[in-house]
Amino acid sequence: MMDLVSRVNAALEEGCPSLAKALSGLGRRVVLPAGIPVQAQEAKKCQFNGTIGMLTDGRGNAIPLPSMAAAFSGLSKEDQNRAFLYSPVAGIPELRKRWREWQLGAVGEGESHRASSSLPVVTGGLSHSLSILADLFGGEGRAVLVPSPFWGNYNHVFGTRTGARLISAPAFQGGVFNSNVFEQAIQQDGALAPDEPVIAILNLPSNPGGYSLSDEERVQVRESLLRIADQRPVLVFCDDAYAGLVFEDAVSPRSMFWDLLNLHDNLLPFKVDGATKEFSLFGGRVGFLTFPFEVDSPVATALENKAAGLVRATVGSPVASSQVLLLQALRSGTVDEEVEDVRLLLLERYRKLQAALAQVDPTLLRPQPFNSGCFALAEIPEELGVGAEQLRRHLLEHGDTGVVSIGDRYVRIAHCSVDGDSLQELVDRVAAGLGQLTLAAHQSSPSKPDVSAAAGSFS
Ligand SMILES: Cc1ncc(COP(=O)(O)O)c(C=O)c1O
Repeated sequence: MMDLVSRVNAALEEGCPSLAKALSGLGRRVVLPAGIPVQAQEAKKCQFNGTIGMLTDGRGNAIPLPSMAAAFSGLSKEDQNRAFLYSPVAGIPELRKRWREWQLGAVGEGESHRASSSLPVVTGGLSHSLSILADLFGGEGRAVLVPSPFWGNYNHVFGTRTGARLISAPAFQGGVFNSNVFEQAIQQDGALAPDEPVIAILNLPSNPGGYSLSDEERVQVRESLLRIADQRPVLVFCDDAYAGLVFEDAVSPRSMFWDLLNLHDNLLPFKVDGATKEFSLFGGRVGFLTFPFEVDSPVATALENKAAGLVRATVGSPVASSQVLLLQALRSGTVDEEVEDVRLLLLERYRKLQAALAQVDPTLLRPQPFNSGCFALAEIPEELGVGAEQLRRHLLEHGDTGVVSIGDRYVRIAHCSVDGDSLQELVDRVAAGLGQLTLAAHQSSPSKPDVSAAAGSFS
Protein backbone atom coordinates (compact mmCIF):
# COMPACT_ATOMS: atom_id res chain seq x y z
CA MET A 1 0.00 0.00 0.00
CA MET A 2 1.26 3.49 -0.88
CA ASP A 3 2.09 5.87 1.95
CA LEU A 4 0.06 9.06 2.34
CA VAL A 5 2.58 11.35 0.61
CA SER A 6 2.78 9.06 -2.42
CA ARG A 7 -1.01 8.77 -2.57
CA VAL A 8 -1.55 12.53 -2.45
CA ASN A 9 1.17 13.16 -5.04
CA ALA A 10 -0.23 10.41 -7.27
CA ALA A 11 -3.66 12.12 -7.20
CA LEU A 12 -2.02 15.32 -8.46
CA GLU A 13 0.10 13.56 -11.07
CA GLU A 14 -2.90 11.72 -12.46
CA GLY A 15 -5.39 14.57 -12.18
CA CYS A 16 -3.20 17.50 -13.23
CA PRO A 17 0.33 16.66 -14.40
CA SER A 18 1.26 20.29 -15.10
CA LEU A 19 0.44 21.18 -11.51
CA ALA A 20 2.38 18.21 -10.15
CA LYS A 21 5.33 19.34 -12.25
CA ALA A 22 5.22 22.79 -10.65
CA LEU A 23 5.38 21.55 -7.04
CA SER A 24 8.38 22.67 -5.01
CA GLY A 25 10.39 20.19 -2.93
CA LEU A 26 8.37 21.19 0.13
CA GLY A 27 5.19 21.04 -1.96
CA ARG A 28 5.94 17.41 -2.84
CA ARG A 29 6.81 16.43 0.73
CA VAL A 30 3.99 18.06 2.63
CA VAL A 31 0.67 16.42 3.55
CA LEU A 32 -1.61 16.62 6.56
CA PRO A 33 -0.62 13.54 8.49
CA ALA A 34 -3.30 11.50 10.20
CA GLY A 35 -2.08 13.00 13.49
CA ILE A 36 -3.94 14.37 16.47
CA PRO A 37 -6.35 16.82 14.75
CA VAL A 38 -7.42 14.12 12.28
CA GLN A 39 -7.76 11.44 14.97
CA ALA A 40 -9.65 13.85 17.25
CA GLN A 41 -12.03 14.72 14.42
CA GLU A 42 -12.67 11.02 13.81
CA ALA A 43 -13.48 10.52 17.51
CA LYS A 44 -15.69 13.60 17.76
CA LYS A 45 -18.95 11.66 18.01
CA CYS A 46 -17.63 9.06 20.48
CA GLN A 47 -19.11 8.94 23.99
CA PHE A 48 -15.61 9.28 25.42
CA ASN A 49 -13.22 11.36 23.33
CA GLY A 50 -9.83 11.20 24.96
CA THR A 51 -7.89 12.34 21.94
CA ILE A 52 -6.98 16.02 21.90
CA GLY A 53 -5.15 18.38 24.26
CA MET A 54 -8.07 20.78 24.46
CA LEU A 55 -9.96 21.63 27.65
CA THR A 56 -13.66 20.67 27.49
CA ASP A 57 -16.41 19.75 29.94
CA GLY A 58 -16.21 16.15 28.71
CA ARG A 59 -19.21 16.64 26.43
CA GLY A 60 -17.40 18.72 23.82
CA ASN A 61 -18.16 22.16 25.29
CA ALA A 62 -15.45 24.78 25.78
CA ILE A 63 -14.56 26.03 29.25
CA PRO A 64 -13.61 29.65 28.56
CA LEU A 65 -12.45 32.08 31.23
CA PRO A 66 -15.56 34.06 32.28
CA SER A 67 -13.90 37.39 31.46
CA MET A 68 -13.44 36.29 27.85
CA ALA A 69 -16.75 34.44 27.60
CA ALA A 70 -18.47 37.73 28.47
CA ALA A 71 -17.16 39.27 25.24
CA PHE A 72 -18.87 36.51 23.24
CA SER A 73 -22.08 36.39 25.27
CA GLY A 74 -24.21 37.39 22.30
CA LEU A 75 -23.32 34.18 20.46
CA SER A 76 -25.21 30.89 20.54
CA LYS A 77 -23.75 28.14 22.70
CA GLU A 78 -22.61 26.35 19.54
CA ASP A 79 -20.77 29.41 18.22
CA GLN A 80 -19.22 30.10 21.61
CA ASN A 81 -17.82 26.59 21.55
CA ARG A 82 -16.54 27.09 18.03
CA ALA A 83 -14.89 30.39 19.02
CA PHE A 84 -13.03 28.93 22.00
CA LEU A 85 -12.15 25.46 20.72
CA TYR A 86 -9.65 24.55 18.00
CA SER A 87 -10.88 25.05 14.46
CA PRO A 88 -10.51 22.14 12.03
CA VAL A 89 -7.16 22.63 10.28
CA ALA A 90 -8.79 23.50 6.92
CA GLY A 91 -11.28 25.83 8.65
CA ILE A 92 -14.80 25.69 10.07
CA PRO A 93 -16.88 23.79 7.49
CA GLU A 94 -19.87 26.13 7.65
CA LEU A 95 -17.59 29.13 7.03
CA ARG A 96 -15.93 27.43 4.08
CA LYS A 97 -19.31 26.71 2.51
CA ARG A 98 -20.70 30.17 3.17
CA TRP A 99 -17.56 31.88 1.82
CA ARG A 100 -17.86 29.84 -1.33
CA GLU A 101 -21.46 30.96 -1.75
CA TRP A 102 -20.32 34.56 -1.17
CA GLN A 103 -17.55 34.22 -3.80
CA LEU A 104 -19.91 32.75 -6.37
CA GLY A 105 -22.88 34.96 -5.49
CA ALA A 106 -20.94 38.23 -5.53
CA VAL A 107 -20.27 37.87 -9.22
CA GLY A 108 -23.37 35.87 -10.18
CA GLU A 109 -21.36 32.85 -11.30
CA GLY A 110 -23.12 30.02 -13.08
CA GLU A 111 -22.95 26.27 -12.65
CA SER A 112 -19.78 25.82 -14.70
CA HIS A 113 -17.78 27.86 -12.22
CA ARG A 114 -19.44 26.11 -9.32
CA ALA A 115 -18.24 22.86 -10.86
CA SER A 116 -14.66 23.98 -11.33
CA SER A 117 -13.69 25.70 -8.10
CA SER A 118 -12.90 24.04 -4.81
CA LEU A 119 -14.18 24.59 -1.31
CA PRO A 120 -11.92 27.37 0.03
CA VAL A 121 -9.36 26.43 2.69
CA VAL A 122 -9.24 28.90 5.61
CA THR A 123 -5.91 30.62 6.29
CA GLY A 124 -4.63 33.29 8.64
CA GLY A 125 -5.18 36.12 6.14
CA LEU A 126 -4.23 36.71 2.53
CA SER A 127 -0.50 36.91 3.24
CA HIS A 128 -0.80 33.44 4.69
CA SER A 129 -2.71 32.16 1.64
CA LEU A 130 0.07 33.53 -0.56
CA SER A 131 2.77 32.02 1.60
CA ILE A 132 1.09 28.60 1.39
CA LEU A 133 1.13 28.93 -2.41
CA ALA A 134 4.76 30.05 -2.25
CA ASP A 135 5.61 26.98 -0.17
CA LEU A 136 3.77 24.67 -2.54
CA PHE A 137 5.01 26.09 -5.82
CA GLY A 138 7.80 28.58 -5.11
CA GLY A 139 11.31 27.59 -4.11
CA GLU A 140 14.86 28.23 -5.23
CA GLY A 141 14.96 29.85 -8.67
CA ARG A 142 11.23 29.56 -9.47
CA ALA A 143 10.20 32.43 -11.75
CA VAL A 144 7.47 34.63 -10.28
CA LEU A 145 6.18 37.14 -12.85
CA VAL A 146 4.68 40.28 -11.40
CA PRO A 147 3.70 43.64 -12.89
CA SER A 148 5.61 46.52 -11.32
CA PRO A 149 5.30 48.44 -9.15
CA PHE A 150 3.92 45.68 -6.91
CA TRP A 151 3.05 45.05 -3.28
CA GLY A 152 6.44 44.74 -1.55
CA ASN A 153 5.44 41.75 0.56
CA TYR A 154 5.60 39.54 -2.57
CA ASN A 155 9.38 39.91 -2.27
CA HIS A 156 9.28 38.47 1.24
CA VAL A 157 6.70 35.80 0.62
CA PHE A 158 8.18 34.40 -2.58
CA GLY A 159 11.76 35.66 -2.75
CA THR A 160 13.11 35.84 0.77
CA ARG A 161 11.17 32.89 2.19
CA THR A 162 11.44 30.43 -0.66
CA GLY A 163 14.27 31.70 -2.87
CA ALA A 164 12.01 32.31 -5.88
CA ARG A 165 13.06 34.89 -8.49
CA LEU A 166 10.71 37.84 -8.90
CA ILE A 167 10.73 39.04 -12.49
CA SER A 168 8.76 42.13 -13.32
CA ALA A 169 7.83 44.30 -16.27
CA PRO A 170 5.98 47.64 -16.09
CA ALA A 171 2.25 47.49 -15.34
CA PHE A 172 1.74 50.65 -17.39
CA GLN A 173 3.34 51.87 -20.59
CA GLY A 174 2.58 55.40 -21.79
CA GLY A 175 -0.24 55.63 -19.25
CA VAL A 176 -1.97 52.48 -20.56
CA PHE A 177 -2.11 49.05 -18.89
CA ASN A 178 0.49 46.72 -20.36
CA SER A 179 -1.59 43.61 -21.15
CA ASN A 180 1.49 41.66 -22.24
CA VAL A 181 3.26 42.32 -18.97
CA PHE A 182 3.78 38.62 -18.14
CA GLU A 183 5.13 37.71 -21.58
CA GLN A 184 7.41 40.72 -21.44
CA ALA A 185 8.74 39.63 -18.05
CA ILE A 186 9.57 36.19 -19.50
CA GLN A 187 11.32 37.67 -22.55
CA GLN A 188 13.25 40.09 -20.39
CA ASP A 189 14.44 37.29 -18.13
CA GLY A 190 15.61 35.03 -20.91
CA ALA A 191 16.75 32.41 -18.36
CA LEU A 192 13.80 30.01 -18.40
CA ALA A 193 14.27 26.48 -19.62
CA PRO A 194 11.74 25.22 -22.19
CA ASP A 195 8.68 23.86 -20.31
CA GLU A 196 9.81 25.37 -17.02
CA PRO A 197 6.74 26.29 -14.93
CA VAL A 198 6.16 29.92 -13.95
CA ILE A 199 4.00 31.71 -11.42
CA ALA A 200 2.15 34.90 -12.45
CA ILE A 201 0.70 37.23 -9.82
CA LEU A 202 -2.47 39.00 -10.87
CA ASN A 203 -3.48 41.46 -8.17
CA LEU A 204 -6.69 43.30 -9.10
CA PRO A 205 -7.71 45.84 -7.87
CA SER A 206 -4.01 46.42 -7.52
CA ASN A 207 -1.83 47.56 -4.70
CA PRO A 208 -0.16 50.05 -5.11
CA GLY A 209 -1.89 51.02 -8.37
CA GLY A 210 -5.57 51.01 -7.35
CA TYR A 211 -6.27 49.68 -10.85
CA SER A 212 -8.68 47.09 -12.29
CA LEU A 213 -8.73 45.98 -15.91
CA SER A 214 -11.22 47.13 -18.53
CA ASP A 215 -13.16 44.39 -20.34
CA GLU A 216 -10.80 44.69 -23.29
CA GLU A 217 -7.72 44.43 -21.11
CA ARG A 218 -9.17 41.36 -19.37
CA VAL A 219 -9.43 39.61 -22.72
CA GLN A 220 -5.90 40.69 -23.69
CA VAL A 221 -4.41 39.46 -20.41
CA ARG A 222 -6.24 36.15 -20.78
CA GLU A 223 -4.93 35.74 -24.33
CA SER A 224 -1.41 36.57 -23.21
CA LEU A 225 -1.57 33.99 -20.40
CA LEU A 226 -2.85 31.42 -22.88
CA ARG A 227 0.16 32.04 -25.10
CA ILE A 228 2.42 31.39 -22.11
CA ALA A 229 0.42 28.25 -21.30
CA ASP A 230 1.15 26.96 -24.82
CA GLN A 231 4.81 26.87 -23.78
CA ARG A 232 4.83 25.93 -20.10
CA PRO A 233 2.66 25.50 -16.95
CA VAL A 234 1.58 28.92 -15.66
CA LEU A 235 0.08 29.16 -12.19
CA VAL A 236 -1.83 32.43 -11.85
CA PHE A 237 -2.22 33.60 -8.29
CA CYS A 238 -5.23 35.93 -8.32
CA ASP A 239 -4.66 38.13 -5.30
CA ASP A 240 -8.17 39.46 -4.73
CA ALA A 241 -7.36 41.35 -1.52
CA TYR A 242 -9.38 44.36 -2.69
CA ALA A 243 -12.18 42.35 -4.35
CA GLY A 244 -15.38 44.25 -4.92
CA LEU A 245 -13.87 47.70 -4.28
CA VAL A 246 -14.47 48.95 -7.81
CA PHE A 247 -15.73 52.47 -8.42
CA GLU A 248 -16.47 52.89 -12.12
CA ASP A 249 -19.54 51.37 -13.80
CA ALA A 250 -17.51 50.34 -16.85
CA VAL A 251 -15.07 48.28 -14.74
CA SER A 252 -16.07 44.76 -13.74
CA PRO A 253 -15.55 43.77 -10.09
CA ARG A 254 -15.35 40.10 -11.13
CA SER A 255 -12.17 38.26 -10.15
CA MET A 256 -9.97 37.17 -13.08
CA PHE A 257 -9.90 33.76 -11.38
CA TRP A 258 -13.29 32.99 -12.96
CA ASP A 259 -12.12 34.12 -16.41
CA LEU A 260 -9.14 31.77 -16.35
CA LEU A 261 -10.85 28.53 -15.34
CA ASN A 262 -10.93 25.57 -17.74
CA LEU A 263 -9.08 27.28 -20.58
CA HIS A 264 -5.92 25.23 -20.93
CA ASP A 265 -4.32 22.26 -19.13
CA ASN A 266 -1.29 24.42 -18.42
CA LEU A 267 -3.19 27.49 -17.17
CA LEU A 268 -4.03 27.11 -13.50
CA PRO A 269 -5.60 30.00 -11.60
CA PHE A 270 -5.70 30.09 -7.78
CA LYS A 271 -7.93 32.45 -5.82
CA VAL A 272 -6.52 34.27 -2.82
CA ASP A 273 -9.15 36.27 -0.96
CA GLY A 274 -10.47 36.93 2.50
CA ALA A 275 -12.23 39.10 5.01
CA THR A 276 -9.39 41.56 5.59
CA LYS A 277 -10.37 44.39 3.27
CA GLU A 278 -13.63 43.16 1.74
CA PHE A 279 -15.26 42.81 5.18
CA SER A 280 -13.16 45.47 6.91
CA LEU A 281 -11.88 42.79 9.32
CA PHE A 282 -8.21 43.70 9.26
CA GLY A 283 -7.31 42.28 12.65
CA GLY A 284 -9.36 39.12 12.24
CA ARG A 285 -6.82 37.34 10.04
CA VAL A 286 -9.23 35.24 8.03
CA GLY A 287 -8.12 34.47 4.50
CA PHE A 288 -9.04 31.76 2.01
CA LEU A 289 -7.36 29.76 -0.71
CA THR A 290 -9.43 28.34 -3.56
CA PHE A 291 -8.20 25.86 -6.17
CA PRO A 292 -9.37 25.51 -9.79
CA PHE A 293 -10.85 22.03 -9.30
CA GLU A 294 -14.27 20.69 -8.42
CA VAL A 295 -15.18 20.30 -4.74
CA ASP A 296 -14.14 16.85 -3.47
CA SER A 297 -12.39 15.93 -6.74
CA PRO A 298 -9.16 13.96 -6.18
CA VAL A 299 -6.97 16.94 -7.19
CA ALA A 300 -8.90 19.42 -4.99
CA THR A 301 -8.70 16.98 -2.07
CA ALA A 302 -4.96 16.49 -2.59
CA LEU A 303 -4.29 20.23 -2.74
CA GLU A 304 -6.48 20.85 0.28
CA ASN A 305 -4.54 18.20 2.14
CA LYS A 306 -1.22 19.83 1.27
CA ALA A 307 -2.47 23.31 2.19
CA ALA A 308 -3.82 21.99 5.51
CA GLY A 309 -0.47 20.25 6.07
CA LEU A 310 1.25 23.64 5.79
CA VAL A 311 -1.29 25.32 8.09
CA ARG A 312 -0.71 22.54 10.62
CA ALA A 313 3.06 22.97 10.32
CA THR A 314 3.01 26.74 10.81
CA VAL A 315 0.08 28.06 12.87
CA GLY A 316 -1.39 24.72 13.99
CA SER A 317 -4.93 25.64 12.98
CA PRO A 318 -6.55 28.89 11.83
CA VAL A 319 -7.92 31.36 14.40
CA ALA A 320 -11.40 30.15 15.40
CA SER A 321 -12.82 33.26 17.07
CA SER A 322 -12.53 35.46 14.01
CA GLN A 323 -13.93 32.71 11.78
CA VAL A 324 -16.98 32.77 14.07
CA LEU A 325 -17.12 36.57 13.76
CA LEU A 326 -17.07 36.34 9.97
CA LEU A 327 -19.76 33.68 10.11
CA GLN A 328 -22.09 36.14 11.87
CA ALA A 329 -21.74 38.49 8.88
CA LEU A 330 -22.18 35.78 6.26
CA ARG A 331 -25.29 34.44 7.98
CA SER A 332 -26.86 37.85 8.42
CA GLY A 333 -29.37 38.90 5.82
CA THR A 334 -27.72 42.31 5.60
CA VAL A 335 -24.17 41.44 4.63
CA ASP A 336 -24.53 42.63 1.02
CA GLU A 337 -25.72 46.07 2.15
CA GLU A 338 -23.05 46.30 4.84
CA VAL A 339 -20.24 45.53 2.40
CA GLU A 340 -21.79 47.94 -0.10
CA ASP A 341 -21.75 50.67 2.56
CA VAL A 342 -17.98 50.17 2.90
CA ARG A 343 -17.61 50.45 -0.88
CA LEU A 344 -19.71 53.62 -0.95
CA LEU A 345 -17.59 55.22 1.75
CA LEU A 346 -14.47 54.45 -0.29
CA LEU A 347 -16.16 55.59 -3.49
CA GLU A 348 -16.63 59.03 -1.97
CA ARG A 349 -12.95 59.20 -0.99
CA TYR A 350 -11.90 57.90 -4.38
CA ARG A 351 -13.84 60.67 -6.12
CA LYS A 352 -12.32 63.31 -3.84
CA LEU A 353 -8.80 62.04 -4.41
CA GLN A 354 -9.44 61.89 -8.16
CA ALA A 355 -10.62 65.52 -8.14
CA ALA A 356 -7.66 66.68 -6.04
CA LEU A 357 -5.08 64.88 -8.18
CA ALA A 358 -6.65 66.19 -11.40
CA GLN A 359 -5.74 69.71 -10.29
CA VAL A 360 -2.07 69.01 -9.61
CA ASP A 361 0.41 70.45 -12.09
CA PRO A 362 1.53 67.42 -14.17
CA THR A 363 5.05 68.79 -14.39
CA LEU A 364 5.17 68.13 -10.63
CA LEU A 365 3.24 64.90 -10.18
CA ARG A 366 1.71 62.46 -12.67
CA PRO A 367 -1.11 60.32 -11.28
CA GLN A 368 -1.28 56.85 -12.87
CA PRO A 369 -4.69 55.61 -14.02
CA PHE A 370 -6.68 54.36 -11.00
CA ASN A 371 -10.29 53.19 -10.74
CA SER A 372 -10.62 50.83 -7.76
CA GLY A 373 -9.20 49.52 -4.51
CA CYS A 374 -7.72 51.68 -1.79
CA PHE A 375 -4.90 53.60 -3.45
CA ALA A 376 -3.67 55.98 -6.10
CA LEU A 377 -0.14 55.94 -7.38
CA ALA A 378 1.57 59.03 -8.71
CA GLU A 379 4.86 59.37 -10.51
CA ILE A 380 7.40 62.10 -9.78
CA PRO A 381 8.78 63.23 -13.16
CA GLU A 382 12.42 62.25 -13.49
CA GLU A 383 13.48 65.72 -14.62
CA LEU A 384 12.56 67.17 -11.20
CA GLY A 385 15.49 65.33 -9.65
CA VAL A 386 13.43 64.57 -6.52
CA GLY A 387 13.32 61.02 -5.14
CA ALA A 388 10.16 59.41 -3.76
CA GLU A 389 11.83 58.58 -0.45
CA GLN A 390 13.19 62.13 -0.22
CA LEU A 391 9.67 63.47 -0.70
CA ARG A 392 8.22 61.03 1.84
CA ARG A 393 10.75 62.11 4.48
CA HIS A 394 10.26 65.80 3.70
CA LEU A 395 6.48 65.44 4.11
CA LEU A 396 6.91 63.58 7.39
CA GLU A 397 9.38 66.09 8.80
CA HIS A 398 7.89 69.35 7.52
CA GLY A 399 4.39 68.64 6.22
CA ASP A 400 2.85 66.48 8.98
CA THR A 401 1.79 64.09 6.21
CA GLY A 402 2.46 60.41 5.53
CA VAL A 403 2.52 58.75 2.12
CA VAL A 404 4.34 55.63 0.97
CA SER A 405 7.37 55.86 -1.31
CA ILE A 406 7.64 53.11 -3.92
CA GLY A 407 10.85 52.67 -5.86
CA ASP A 408 12.67 55.85 -6.85
CA ARG A 409 9.81 57.81 -8.33
CA TYR A 410 6.39 56.75 -7.09
CA VAL A 411 4.29 57.79 -4.14
CA ARG A 412 1.21 55.86 -3.05
CA ILE A 413 -1.70 57.65 -1.42
CA ALA A 414 -4.07 55.40 0.56
CA HIS A 415 -7.40 57.19 0.34
CA CYS A 416 -8.95 54.40 2.42
CA SER A 417 -7.25 55.65 5.56
CA VAL A 418 -7.85 59.39 5.14
CA ASP A 419 -11.07 61.20 5.91
CA GLY A 420 -12.59 62.28 2.57
CA ASP A 421 -12.62 65.97 3.49
CA SER A 422 -8.87 65.90 4.17
CA LEU A 423 -7.79 64.45 0.83
CA GLN A 424 -7.55 67.79 -0.98
CA GLU A 425 -5.29 69.13 1.77
CA LEU A 426 -3.15 65.98 1.69
CA VAL A 427 -2.63 66.30 -2.06
CA ASP A 428 -1.89 70.03 -1.69
CA ARG A 429 0.81 69.17 0.82
CA VAL A 430 2.34 66.53 -1.44
CA ALA A 431 2.45 69.08 -4.29
CA ALA A 432 3.83 71.81 -2.04
CA GLY A 433 6.49 69.46 -0.69
CA LEU A 434 7.50 68.50 -4.21
CA GLY A 435 7.65 72.16 -5.23
CA GLN A 436 9.88 72.97 -2.25
CA LEU A 437 12.28 70.12 -2.97
CA THR A 438 12.40 70.94 -6.68
CA LEU A 439 13.13 74.58 -5.94
CA ALA A 440 15.95 73.55 -3.61
CA ALA A 441 17.32 71.25 -6.37
CA HIS A 442 17.04 74.12 -8.90
CA GLN A 443 18.89 76.51 -6.62
CA SER A 444 21.75 74.10 -6.12
CA SER A 445 21.79 73.04 -9.79
CA PRO A 446 20.15 75.61 -12.13
CA SER A 447 19.76 73.06 -14.97
CA LYS A 448 16.82 71.52 -13.02
CA PRO A 449 13.32 72.94 -13.81
CA ASP A 450 12.29 76.15 -12.07
CA VAL A 451 9.00 75.43 -10.32
CA SER A 452 9.20 78.25 -7.83
CA ALA A 453 5.54 79.09 -8.54
CA ALA A 454 4.50 75.68 -7.24
CA ALA A 455 6.67 75.77 -4.17
CA GLY A 456 3.86 76.81 -1.82
CA SER A 457 4.13 76.46 1.91
CA PHE A 458 2.35 73.83 4.01
CA SER A 459 -0.82 75.33 5.42
C1 LIG B 1 -2.20 43.13 -2.64
C2 LIG B 1 -2.32 42.60 -1.27
N1 LIG B 1 -2.34 41.28 -1.08
C3 LIG B 1 -2.41 40.74 0.13
C4 LIG B 1 -2.47 41.54 1.25
C5 LIG B 1 -2.44 40.88 2.59
O1 LIG B 1 -3.64 40.83 3.22
P1 LIG B 1 -3.71 40.32 4.72
O2 LIG B 1 -3.62 41.53 5.57
O3 LIG B 1 -5.03 39.62 4.82
O4 LIG B 1 -2.58 39.39 4.96
C6 LIG B 1 -2.45 42.92 1.13
C7 LIG B 1 -2.47 43.77 2.31
O5 LIG B 1 -2.17 44.93 2.31
C8 LIG B 1 -2.37 43.46 -0.18
O6 LIG B 1 -2.30 44.77 -0.36
